[in-house]
Amino acid sequence: MSEKELDKSKRGFLVATSVVGGVTAVGAAVPFAASMMPSERAKAMGAPVEVDISHLGPGEMMRVEWRGKPVWVLRRTPEMLTSIEKSDDRVTDPKLEVDQQPDYAKNEARSIKPEVLVLVGVCTHLGCSPQFKPKEMSPDMGADWVGGFYCPCHGSKFDFAGRVYKGAPAPINLEVPRYMYLADSKIVIGEDKKGA
Ligand code: FES
Repeated sequence: MSEKELDKSKRGFLVATSVVGGVTAVGAAVPFAASMMPSERAKAMGAPVEVDISHLGPGEMMRVEWRGKPVWVLRRTPEMLTSIEKSDDRVTDPKLEVDQQPDYAKNEARSIKPEVLVLVGVCTHLGCSPQFKPKEMSPDMGADWVGGFYCPCHGSKFDFAGRVYKGAPAPINLEVPRYMYLADSKIVIGEDKKGA
């Protein structure tokens, strides 16, 4: 592993938690209704999260907390995108027939812009969080590993689009959340043009 790769590896997941909305003014609520309302904290936990991805270089991934779940944002390299094309016959649901992504992510890269992947980092088997396993940093994954994500709990493997490999205990692909771009380097997770 080169020094540059080691440095990237050490940087690991960056955390961004900028809540942008979701807390709506309630107005003059009657006491009984107010007592049934979710707390401000609960509402904030469900709010969309704004993320600045301007610092994210090719091959780097950051982690964002949204609704108590880890969400990954990965700026994929051309090699990572090529590895997805080559994985079609190795994954369970190459045509994305299971509803695990919004319509605008129902494409080969499972994203709005091919180079930027946004994915809920929760394994669809029993809920562990898989590990980021680029090919060049993962000699432990074997010679045929083209890179992706690996869940060490029970061995599920996913490609760089979050599609699960055949034979894994995870039954379906990782989920793509709703998201949209506010600018080239700014996205909102948990909301799209249709609203939250
Ligand atoms: S929770 Fe990921 S393989 Fe079981």
